[in-house]
Amino acid sequence: MVDVPEYIRALKAYVAGKPINELAREKNLKKIVKLASNENPLGPSPKALLALENILEESHRYVDPSSHRLVQAIAKKYGKSQHEIVCGHGTDSILAYIVNAFTDHNDEVLTSEGTFIGIYVNVLKFGRKLVKVPLKDYGYDLDAIASVITEKTKLIYLANPNNPTGTMFSKAEFEKFMSHVPDSILVILDEAYTVYAEENSDYPNGFEYDYQNLIVTRTFSKAYGLAGLRVGFAIAPAAVIKEIYKVKLPFEPNYPAQIAAEAALDDDDFLRKTVDTNSKSLATLKTCFNRLGIKQIPTAANFIMILFPSEQFATAFNEQCLEHGLIVRHVKSFGIPEAIRINSGTEDETEFAVSVIEKVYQALSEKFGIENKKAVRT
Ligand SMILES: Cc1ncc(COP(=O)(O)O)c(C=O)c1O
Repeated sequence: MVDVPEYIRALKAYVAGKPINELAREKNLKKIVKLASNENPLGPSPKALLALENILEESHRYVDPSSHRLVQAIAKKYGKSQHEIVCGHGTDSILAYIVNAFTDHNDEVLTSEGTFIGIYVNVLKFGRKLVKVPLKDYGYDLDAIASVITEKTKLIYLANPNNPTGTMFSKAEFEKFMSHVPDSILVILDEAYTVYAEENSDYPNGFEYDYQNLIVTRTFSKAYGLAGLRVGFAIAPAAVIKEIYKVKLPFEPNYPAQIAAEAALDDDDFLRKTVDTNSKSLATLKTCFNRLGIKQIPTAANFIMILFPSEQFATAFNEQCLEHGLIVRHVKSFGIPEAIRINSGTEDETEFAVSVIEKVYQALSEKFGIENKKAVRT
């Protein structure tokens, strides 16, 4: 066997939310609804789909490594210079580049427990040290994170809203936090769910700050509906972006991803529909959880995290939902074993989810001996 570094040996390959066709193969189900990966239930942006027509005949060409057209469109939309922008195959890819470009073997990356698993993997796969601060009431404890900064801290990762908890920190909390961070530490602000959160006047939009040690990441995977194409971008001072270009794979994002993202960026109608669908679906889910007495964490994103009395209950809930054709996400791998995350869906998907959740929760409450409110529809 070829030698593998210890830090790679210790990793586990990523396990994503269960794909629909895999569940369909395993069980003989009439209907399957997947609300497990925070995707847009409306599908891709229609403008993106239109832009994708006829572009495959360009597939024999290498793409522009600087994503020129997409970068120009992002620069125009957000009032930035092209030198402050880099695009990649999703936020996940950009996180890897940031860790690669800005940390060395003895450096530490500081973040929270119970946050986006992608940052954990991207730190550990380079053999860097990961320092995780416990959540407070299922949200980031920014004061505690600031208090454990040391000379070894090189990067800090924050997701706002956070995945999987859905919690959001405010402008005041973010600004106070940044005032405690030395300029020599790069702060990553992952804004994968901004489109859903920015209606909130207290939401700190990362693009409105000019900290020299801040890099803000956004993705086209969520509200824009392009998760399968793999495209995201980061905005930071030009000196930071310049270093990322040195480690970035030259030909990403791929050509269809660049074209689709450029078109989706201006699809305001679609974004409005997306936010509206999300609000309605989450309202229905919240009503269902309240009716059943299931504890939920207030969310600013397109998903909601619910809590059960034990890991065993959450595991059984996840399995029983699958038996009924509903794919949700048990967030044990994110470090919260007693929780399940479910994202918003279309009206039909949400109704289906509610009916499955009612059935499964009542059956499990009896099995686990938990007093449960009657699932009476109001
Ligand atoms: C906070 C956060 N950041 C980044 C991502 C990944 O985004 P992408 O698909 O662009 O890699 C996710 C996806 O679940 C996420 O929740």
